[in-house]
Amino acid sequence: MAASTRASRTLGVGISGIGWCAAEHIKAFLKNPHTEVRFLHGRDEARVREKLSRYGVAVPGARFTTRYEDLLQSDEVDIVSITTPNHLHAAQAVAAARAGKHFVLEKPTGLDTRELVRIRDAVRKAKVRTIVSFELHYNPYLRFVHWLRESGRLGRIRFARVQYLSRVTDWYSGWDWVRKKSSGGSHLLAAGCHAVDALRWCSGLEPVEVSALHTRFTEGYEWPTTIAANMKLQKGAIGHVTSSTDFMLPYTFGVELMGDKATVRDTLVTWHKDQPLEVDELRRANPFPEVKLLDAQYGSGSPALRIDCLMPDSADVSHHPFQGEMDELVEAVRSRRETHLSVFDAQKTMEVCLAADLSAGKGGRPVRLPLVKPRSTKEGEGRP
Ligand SMILES: NC(=O)c1ccc[n+]([C@@H]2O[C@H](COP(=O)([O-])OP(=O)(O)OC[C@H]3O[C@@H](n4cnc5c(N)ncnc54)[C@H](OP(=O)(O)O)[C@@H]3O)[C@@H](O)[C@H]2O)c1
Repeated sequence: MAASTRASRTLGVGISGIGWCAAEHIKAFLKNPHTEVRFLHGRDEARVREKLSRYGVAVPGARFTTRYEDLLQSDEVDIVSITTPNHLHAAQAVAAARAGKHFVLEKPTGLDTRELVRIRDAVRKAKVRTIVSFELHYNPYLRFVHWLRESGRLGRIRFARVQYLSRVTDWYSGWDWVRKKSSGGSHLLAAGCHAVDALRWCSGLEPVEVSALHTRFTEGYEWPTTIAANMKLQKGAIGHVTSSTDFMLPYTFGVELMGDKATVRDTLVTWHKDQPLEVDELRRANPFPEVKLLDAQYGSGSPALRIDCLMPDSADVSHHPFQGEMDELVEAVRSRRETHLSVFDAQKTMEVCLAADLSAGKGGRPVRLPLVKPRSTKEGEGRP
């Protein structure tokens, strides 16, 4: 039975795959005034209860089940949150759509194009609302950079680079499954997809061709642990994504956007002396009160602004802005509209990741995008 979307009533939530990430999804749903967490799905109740307590979240009213179908068959569940290991996502997403449930899907959405197409078709047919966890869209730094580009103040983008560098080893709760090819996927699918998504979102340009190289240093993984992908972007621009677990530095989400008016390099906004940025005008126009623009210097003394706000600088999921993501899905369900991070949009990010892996496996041979041919113009929807 299709889940009701009447704006007046509380939406029931079922969570599948209770671990590190699920705890943060639960906390976000507990804070949303329109949702109630009613079902927990896992393989073992004692383990699930222990993990909830380890990650500091309590949902005494929620029922536990070992059968995912129980969530799908329950009239009390409107939204399913899928936070299981990567290889389970696609089948669970398809089943949720077929049961008429709206869903949150953790990245990666699918591990190959067949899975991506199955999710797309199931969601399109069921017309349920979806959101994919590229939750950095709700981080103030990325929101500001996205706005700065969209406002035209960077000009036409000529180069975009995003780096996802996170030293994930056996400290990670999902180490047993993530390090394996069959359940983790690849470094881009499991982790660096955040960087590909941010590159697309911040630059506003879709990759049309990708060429990548990969290598392996960190022990324990079944797949290469660094991949560097160069991309041809729309409108003649060039893009680059690095995704790695090999480097000896703290978690780094590096962003660089170079336009024909100004440039963002991580926390600095800078420009060429022949074409100064109107700093006072930018400060007045900045719509994010939590983002301060401080006077700074670039290199050996050129003027710049330093973006001062909460940065995407932690691998710890308790620092990730899941609240914005869950709130957007709930609002979309209540008002019967699409989210800006639906499975349709995420599919494009996943295709870039798959194309980069394909290219790296062939020694860097360029791979054209999209991998999945759009069936209609509606496929391009998903961005606001
Ligand atoms: N968006 C982000 O920023 C972000 C950050 C971290 C993780 N994630 C994503 O979130 C997902 C989960 O990652 P995590 O870090 O939370 O890993 P995790 O701590 O290992 O949690 C996954 C949970 O799924 C459970 N599970 C395994 N197989 C299952 C099955 N067949 N049915 C039901 N539950 C099952 C596991 O419980 P048992 O093994 O005890 O049964 C485990 O506790 C991954 O897809 C990951 O990519 C996203």
